[in-house]
Amino acid sequence: MNLSKFGSKFTRPNGISQLMTDLGNAKNSKNPDIIMLGGGNPAVIPEVNSVFVSELQKLMTSTQIDKVIGLYDHPQGNEDFRVALANKLNENYDWGLDKNNIGLSNGSQANFFVLFNLFAGEMTDGSHKKILFPLAPEYVGYADQGLSEDMFIAIKPDIEILDADSKSKQFKYVVNFDAVAQTLASDNAIGALCVSRPTNPTGNVITDEELNQLDSLAQQYNIPLIVDNAYGHPFPGCIYTDATLTWNSNIILCMSLSKLGLAGLRTGIVIANKEIIQALGHINGSMILTPNSLGPSLLTRMLKDKELLKLCKNVVKPYYSDKSQTAIGLFNEIFADRSVYLHKVEGAFFMWLWFKDAKITSETLYQRLKEKYVYIIPGHNFFIGIDDDWQHKHQCIRINYATDETTLRKGLETIKLIMDEA
Ligand SMILES: Cc1ncc(COP(=O)(O)O)c(C=O)c1O
Repeated sequence: MNLSKFGSKFTRPNGISQLMTDLGNAKNSKNPDIIMLGGGNPAVIPEVNSVFVSELQKLMTSTQIDKVIGLYDHPQGNEDFRVALANKLNENYDWGLDKNNIGLSNGSQANFFVLFNLFAGEMTDGSHKKILFPLAPEYVGYADQGLSEDMFIAIKPDIEILDADSKSKQFKYVVNFDAVAQTLASDNAIGALCVSRPTNPTGNVITDEELNQLDSLAQQYNIPLIVDNAYGHPFPGCIYTDATLTWNSNIILCMSLSKLGLAGLRTGIVIANKEIIQALGHINGSMILTPNSLGPSLLTRMLKDKELLKLCKNVVKPYYSDKSQTAIGLFNEIFADRSVYLHKVEGAFFMWLWFKDAKITSETLYQRLKEKYVYIIPGHNFFIGIDDDWQHKHQCIRINYATDETTLRKGLETIKLIMDEA
């Protein structure tokens, strides 16, 4: 094939697509011994699933269904949903939004592609701008989204060891604001800041203070702050610590229906100033005409009638919060006398383990685990925009704990065994 620059960049094999192929093959295999702790799939929570299925049945027999499946929506996305969401957010947070502050697309992955390439890459004046991740590690899905080369730069975190004397060895990444400020000051080629909160892969939730400081820096440099809220408030609400959801016209807040258990309905949401939402609508128009209608249509009534947020508060959040406690308990038991640290579990559904004195890299651990049919994600993939060979990058792994206790225990025990043998 004689490919364009776009074609050759986007068809190039990369580490993460190889990893996702491994995970996909494992998921489709009939091998009963497979222990799947990789991937970002949410759990199927029976109570939540049955609410969505029953809502879908109601939608299918309603007069609306012809419109939902037969007509194109607005390029910014389904209007009824955007109005209902704007009203709900105003009710809860008093942000003064209307439907033109909200844009939809087919999953937030698609929204990030558009946002990153709107604010970074080759600029109209010939300069080249980058997206700055103020707190590495970050969501691996961002890594290959740039239309031009060298689009991402990240700041190494400060590492705080928590409760050094306690039995549970935990740590937390915090933003190194000196380094963020220095990068912004020295490099006028930053087009936007982006942070996931809760963070995939670590389960970190940056504090309100950290968020406010990033917001001030973004305003000072007149660049947007993109906050990826795929796991956060108000839905799905997978946050187990105090955190305030913040928005203003310089913040681009991204949300998703995926982690509610609706990943297949491919609905991503952007809340931003109207100029940005209009731009997203224009891009939708040329790329996809209009986003998928089914996800938004399914949830509009539940949003209006307050059922969705109740479901998140009463079922989704407690479900994952219980899983997080099980995960911490297993970690404390299995790694009690090992030099392994767990990132403080504050949100989402991932454990991030740091093997401080590891004799093998996380990639080697991944390969050895794969031979035993245990799948995790090796951590170096998440250090997007950190090009040096920082040792810490190769000492961490991500585990999805949205599974049953027996599977998680088997996986963690196999990890311990392999690290002991190394
Ligand atoms: C932090 C984060 N952002 C965005 C996404 C993409 O979600 P969506 O399914 O809405 O494209 C994911 C998916 O795993 C994620 O973990």
